[in-house]
Formats: sequence, C-alpha cells, structure tokens
Amino acid sequence: MERKFNFSAGPGALPEQVLEEARNEMMVYKDAGASIMEISHRSPQYTAVAESARSSLRSLLGLDDEWSILFLQSGASLQFYQSAINFLKPDTVGNYVVTGSWAKNALAQGVAVGATHVAASSADQNFNYVPGVETWDISDRAAYVHVTSNNTIYGTQMKGDPSIDVPMICDASSDFLSRPIDTSKYGLIYAGAQKNIGPAGATVVLIKQDFLDRIPDGVPTLLDYRTHVSKLFHTPPVFAVYMIEKVLRWIESIGDLEAMKIRNDDKAALLYNRIDASEYFTGVAMKDSRSNMNVTFRLPSEELEGRFIAEARTAGLLALKGHRSAGGVRASIYNACPVEAVEALIEFMDAFESENG
Ligand SMILES: Cc1ncc(COP(=O)(O)O)c(C=O)c1O
Repeated sequence: MERKFNFSAGPGALPEQVLEEARNEMMVYKDAGASIMEISHRSPQYTAVAESARSSLRSLLGLDDEWSILFLQSGASLQFYQSAINFLKPDTVGNYVVTGSWAKNALAQGVAVGATHVAASSADQNFNYVPGVETWDISDRAAYVHVTSNNTIYGTQMKGDPSIDVPMICDASSDFLSRPIDTSKYGLIYAGAQKNIGPAGATVVLIKQDFLDRIPDGVPTLLDYRTHVSKLFHTPPVFAVYMIEKVLRWIESIGDLEAMKIRNDDKAALLYNRIDASEYFTGVAMKDSRSNMNVTFRLPSEELEGRFIAEARTAGLLALKGHRSAGGVRASIYNACPVEAVEALIEFMDAFESENG
C-alpha cells in the first residue's frame, strides 16, 4: 500500500526523507555493527546523535549555555506534574492559563501539588479562543504562569510570546519548532515529540539555569530536573532521540524557524481561506486565535461530518476526525505535512460541497 496524506494529530506525519534515512540505517548504524536501538546509550555513536540534536536545538532556538536541553520519557503529561513538583513551593502560587483539555490536565496536576490560580480561561466559550495577555489576572506570589502555546484539540494557538513579569512554563507539544520562540519569556518549555519533531517516546524539555536554581531539595530523584541535567541518569529514549535528530536536520535543510513559520502560515492560510470561502464549512476557532497546526471545522451536520471523514479516508486523506471530546473535522498540518496534502484536502472539500451542499 502506498503512503497517503496524513492529517493525524499525534503521533503525526514525519518527513519522508527522515523515514527513508532511518530505513536505510535500520540494520546497521554507521560503524556500530548493529542498529542504533541495539547499542549502549553511552556509546560514541549514540552520544554523537544526542549531541547533534542538542546542538541543532540550540542553533534553531538561539539557546545559550544558560539553557539545558533534556530528552525525557513519560510524555508531556508527566511534565504537568513534574513542572509543578519542581517549582510550586509552599509559599508560592502556580498560575495557569486554561485554554483547553491539556491545560486543564496541567492545572489538575498543579492542584495536586500546591496552591494554584486560574489567571485566565476560555472555558466560557468552549475553548474557541486564547485569552489575550491583557486579560490575565496573575496572583501575588506567582511561581510561574503555565501556558499551552497550541491547543491541539480545539485548534487555537497563542500568538507570539506574551510579556509578563513572571516566568512562563510552556507546554509547546503541538507547535514546537513550527515558528520562532522568544525563549527569554520562559523558564521551562516542554514538548512531547510525537506531533512535530519525532516519534512518541521522548519529551524535549528546555530549562533555564535561574529556574533550575529554584528547585528545592526533596523532589524525588527521577522527577528532579537537576538529576537529568547533571548526568545521563538512566537509559534515555534512544530511538526517539535518534529520529528527532534527523527531523532537526531536516528542519535545518529548509532553513530557520522563521522559514518554517512562513511555510506553516502559508499552508494554514490556504485551508482557512477555503473554510471561509463558503458557508458550508465553519471554522471552530475564533479567527484571531486560529492555530496554524490544527485546523478545526464543522460541516452542516454530524452525519455529513461522518461521511466527509470516511470518504476523505477512501480518497487517501487520513485521520481527519476531530478529537472525541470536540467532534467535527480536524486537519493537523504539522511541519512535515506537505502543501500538496493541504491542496488535496481543499480539492476534496470542493468536490464534497458540490455533491452534498
Ligand atoms: C498540547 C498537548 N499537551 C500535552 C499532550 C499530552 O501528551 P502526552 O501524550 O505526550 O502525554 C498533548 C497530546 O496530544 C497535547 O496535544
């Protein structure tokens, strides 16, 4: 069976070039005499892979030596708890901007650790927008403000990096490396790899030194970020890091993150223009909060949505079903989704509308 256009929200599409490279190296990695999955995580070959990935991340994001780069396990969901247990001290308050289900999960983990405060929420309109920074109500003694840069389920995205007096913690799982980030606004940025930068299994964690210095003693060893900064404490997700390194080199072959943003904005504009071109399709997110990664829209009825998704699949357009909690259609057009996929989807939308509209 040939490869189809893949709009999966995660694990998401990977660049074909990366998959081909991995296929070619599957049995023997360089001079290792074995696959990368079969050799020590302390071998010179794996060490070089991890160093190359870190070096690409540093140059793409402009990270200086103040930033540590970790590849951890247990997904972005563990970061909800890990970030709180490291930074939410008894005399401080974890502030949360609640813009969707993942942000609610992050808040719940903060609540399990200590005092929390909802600085802003878009629950009042079923998370179809991202509250502007001017509306945030940040508490006294704020340890951090936790934000979600892109809301995978509802298809909304923070525009830029807000300026506030408190360092932010960012869940960037679904738009990491899709655009530049002003890292000076953050103390901690984390992203599950499986949407934009690799397969499932690794979570990239970027953490700034002055934030690391705030960690109190007594955090359980494996959850204390300092454990992973100082040494390779346990076996890292070797294969996921290996794939991430290839994706990073693929991004560099395209250019910098500004180039990536232009590509992503252009793809998203094509699709949003088509949605807005007729009343048959309705965008879910408010226009000024629209995500350029997860494009969510509705058709006139759930019955038509079901048919649209099924017929699209037959036409070679995979995984367009909205998240089970939100319904509708969701096209995830991450970095590796080619413009041809978006064009094919638009063609399909045109045909579907003229047959059923
Ligand atoms: C924004 C966001 N945060 C967190 C998660 C949870 O990630 P994981 O499954 O790696 O725990 C997801 C998964 O879709 C997500 O989209």
